Amino acid sequence: MSNVTPAVYAITIELDGQQYHFQCRDNQTVLSAAEAAGVPVPSSCCAGVCTTCAARIQEGEVHQPDAMGVKEDLRQEGFALLCVSFPRSDLAATAGQEDALYEAQFGQYQS
Ligand code: FES
Repeated sequence: MSNVTPAVYAITIELDGQQYHFQCRDNQTVLSAAEAAGVPVPSSCCAGVCTTCAARIQEGEVHQPDAMGVKEDLRQEGFALLCVSFPRSDLAATAGQEDALYEAQFGQYQS
């Protein structure tokens, strides 16, 4: 009998000046692990569209194939939507980055 055990990663989220530590499986979104751990990460659509759950990854890697709300070049800069982000390593990230993401995506179009 062999079960494939999902990898479990250590997540550190900074939100409003506080640090939260919790664990997240590789088949679980960072947002659902945060909610299970009682971390008040803002979220709304939970489908990678609205960007309420935007975060900036400081360390580590996420897999976010459904993050429609973030352009590829901004993903390269570390922006991630936690509701559709699966960890691929231990992570350190800052949550509550909706405004920063909006500015990065659309700021150049405003005069
Ligand atoms: S909650 Fe809407 S993009 Fe994550």
